[in-house]
Amino acid sequence: IPVDDFDLVIFGATGDLAHRKILPGLYRRFVAGQVPATAQIIGAARTKQDDEAFRAEARAAIQEFAGKGDDLSQLDDFLRHLAYVAIDARGSDGWDELKARIRPEGVHAFYFSVAPALFGDIAQRLASYGIADTNSRIVVEKPFGRDLATARALNQTLAQHFAENQIYRIDHYLGKETVQNLMAVRFANMLFEPLWNAQYVDHVQITVAETVGVGGRGEYYDHSGAMRDMVQNHMMQLLCLIAMEPPYHFDPDAVRDEKLKVIRALEPLEPGDIVRGQYQADGDEPGYLADAGNPQSRTESFVALKVRIANWRWSGTPFYLRTGKRLRARTSEIVVTFKAPPHSIFDESDGPRSNQLVIKLQPNEGMDLTVMIKEPGPGGMRLVQVPLDMSFADALGENGTDMPDAYERLIMDVIRGNQTLFMRGDEVEAAWAWTDPIIADWEAGSKRPEPYDPGSSGPDEALRLLHRDNRRWREIR
Ligand code: BG6
Repeated sequence: IPVDDFDLVIFGATGDLAHRKILPGLYRRFVAGQVPATAQIIGAARTKQDDEAFRAEARAAIQEFAGKGDDLSQLDDFLRHLAYVAIDARGSDGWDELKARIRPEGVHAFYFSVAPALFGDIAQRLASYGIADTNSRIVVEKPFGRDLATARALNQTLAQHFAENQIYRIDHYLGKETVQNLMAVRFANMLFEPLWNAQYVDHVQITVAETVGVGGRGEYYDHSGAMRDMVQNHMMQLLCLIAMEPPYHFDPDAVRDEKLKVIRALEPLEPGDIVRGQYQADGDEPGYLADAGNPQSRTESFVALKVRIANWRWSGTPFYLRTGKRLRARTSEIVVTFKAPPHSIFDESDGPRSNQLVIKLQPNEGMDLTVMIKEPGPGGMRLVQVPLDMSFADALGENGTDMPDAYERLIMDVIRGNQTLFMRGDEVEAAWAWTDPIIADWEAGSKRPEPYDPGSSGPDEALRLLHRDNRRWREIR
């Protein structure tokens, strides 16, 4: 879908996120024909350099971080869209020049790919220099605060200069193909939704497992931990999309209203429903404490939770969430386990088992539904469980493998002015309101996270969280 002509300013254009995600993502959209001929992408950062130097920097970043299959033959043409302004976010340098560079026409978007401490300074200068107006859009990255008070303060600061419909808070999980597909699966089929409630769903598991540790970003991470880094935002968004009521329309506020209701219905967690872990050293590989550069750290690199949603649809169905670093495999998936049939007409030993719908977010996007069938052959009426496997790559051919990266999609949504896949201020605040007491409890206590071996599924306590309910996690593989 073509987009309107635009000027996109990237604050923090020399930083890691711009190099890894934003510039390669824009290049791929350019190759897809979605960057209009006169569009401008203006890098803005403290480094003093000219357009040419920034283009060379962008070229190197795109060469390094573009996907394996990406065609780089159009790089020169893309780089012509790039310009650069050296700017002092807390001073006056560069702002007049930035203003002069932006054309009056087209969409104006400002991507704040900088430390949150600078959000206010930049927002204020965009307004006072007359660079942004009521039609401009701003994009802000996580972390959006580190608790309710800081998130609220950030929302208030941005609100001094921008209306809510101009603010695009990124959660890149919402840009993932399968995450959006969740809504299609739930609301464009009749098959699942009638069963999508506590009467038929035994429990739901959401796992986001990573193999990487926190080495390289240990300092940031140690002030954050899995709860702030992954649960408050990404996992919470997945939970909302799985649990929300059907919105009346696929429209930004209709969707976000329903997500907000889920967050507000979360029950406070009991201490027994939480497991925190920290990965250990493995031979020469450093453990969490060394990666964090803090031998006393009590920050968690793993967390597992049993979450309850107190509403009509979900009362009685637990949602188990877990995420962690240095686990066995990089896998993100959601597993919806349905209840077993109420009565088995078959021999007990061969009795039916529960159906499971597995929604795989990464690495291989797709869905898998386990069903019971008769084991083929003359051996009598024996049941076997088989997967109805739908890998999107297989089912959709090339369209299934060449999925845009989350950032590409989200940046284009900003240009189109579609906020559906962005978090609203009240959603972020509600999510912090739920996580704050949990984190405050940890910080006040002296309990250390449970140790776990790298390459494992996390601490044994996390397994017990389900065992005590006669359930088990789907294996991380
Ligand atoms: C980021 C977190 O938001 O998401 C990282 O800060 C994490 O710690 C990353 O590794 C995971 O994203 P993805 O897309 O690789 O699953």
